[in-house]
Amino acid sequence: MEVPPPLVLKRHLYVPSKTLMGPGPSNCSHRVLEAMSNPVLGHMHPECLQIMDEVKEGIKYIFQTLNDATMCISGAGHSGMEAALCNLIQDGDVVLMGITGVWGHRAGDMARRYGAEVHYVEASFGRALSWEELTFAFEAHRPQVFFIAQGDSSTGVIQQNIREIGELCRKYDCFLVVDTVASLGGTEFLMDEWKVDVAYTGSQKTLGGPAGITPISFSKRALTHIRKRKTKPKVYYFDILLIGQYWGCYGTPRIYHHTISSTLLYGLREALAHFCALGLKAVVRRHQECSKRLQLGIEELGLEMFVQREEERLPTVNTIKVPFGVDWKKVAEYAMRKYSVEISGGLGPTVEHVFRIGLMGENATVERVDMVLSILNEAIQSIKLKAVKTERSKI
Ligand SMILES: Cc1ncc(COP(=O)(O)O)c(C=O)c1O
Repeated sequence: MEVPPPLVLKRHLYVPSKTLMGPGPSNCSHRVLEAMSNPVLGHMHPECLQIMDEVKEGIKYIFQTLNDATMCISGAGHSGMEAALCNLIQDGDVVLMGITGVWGHRAGDMARRYGAEVHYVEASFGRALSWEELTFAFEAHRPQVFFIAQGDSSTGVIQQNIREIGELCRKYDCFLVVDTVASLGGTEFLMDEWKVDVAYTGSQKTLGGPAGITPISFSKRALTHIRKRKTKPKVYYFDILLIGQYWGCYGTPRIYHHTISSTLLYGLREALAHFCALGLKAVVRRHQECSKRLQLGIEELGLEMFVQREEERLPTVNTIKVPFGVDWKKVAEYAMRKYSVEISGGLGPTVEHVFRIGLMGENATVERVDMVLSILNEAIQSIKLKAVKTERSKI
């Protein structure tokens, strides 16, 4: 039997232009897209290694860290989560997952695969974890690793007190892993000052870079622990000692670990360069101002934010309650069909309950906020009107 070449691949590639205002990815700037059309470099070529060094400096800035073990995992945000847990966890370790949406559950699933005994501390729906919930869980479980998403993109909840959690982890001699995939650039994050042991973020959210290359950093304390492991991390691809050697983190000769995508590196390098030129504080301020404007607009439209407490709202991924009787899918379809604008529905526990509007990177501007508010309103009114007409036609 011979399998013929597929007919679909005879057609030209078609990619529509969309405004990505869901939970990510956000749109890449022209600067990032142009950078990615540069010629491919070999993964050990000195020019490629030089770009990796520049990317490392950018990551240190965005995390506010001096950690040597700062690099990227070649993979999407999930690969950062895998690498963080895979390197820290040994069989039988007690791991505590902070739950403010889906991401703690997903990290729990991963940690169990790496041999951990997993426990959960869960916030009330739409709330951040309280200090009482946290301290009670630490005392009850005495974890060796604690995981928390600073911003949970499924609920739009932000966990503000990472600094205090860092202190709590030190008190219990526990490693602190913080997922900043959806939060970095939208709120303050000070890795070293807050005693965070592992942090990773998404390249495709506020950074506005390409997906598939994940910045990550390990503290000296975490690295010492990893060097002393009795067994090697269970996944070769995520072994931070090997990846870090390729990234030139440890002052040893660089050795091949995998073939990095030079194209993604260019895109991330330019996204970081843009972010650094704007400055961390200014980027955070802009994202927060845009979110405030969106929240005001939502109220004016007679809609309601899902997260009740203003201080617990994630500025980057905003969750809005779906009005009673409205089909969120039809609203999202309307926005896409008529305006090529992505408005997303919920994820995990918020499916069917919320719209998620992302204001990140290129899309965190006053103009985009006003545009998405107007489209959301028009779409909801149109869907409501259609529903009334359908009801009437039945009479
Ligand atoms: C908080 C958080 N963590 C992890 C991820 C996973 O990232 P990716 O889809 O790039 O694997 C996401 C994705 O939206 C996220 O919002």
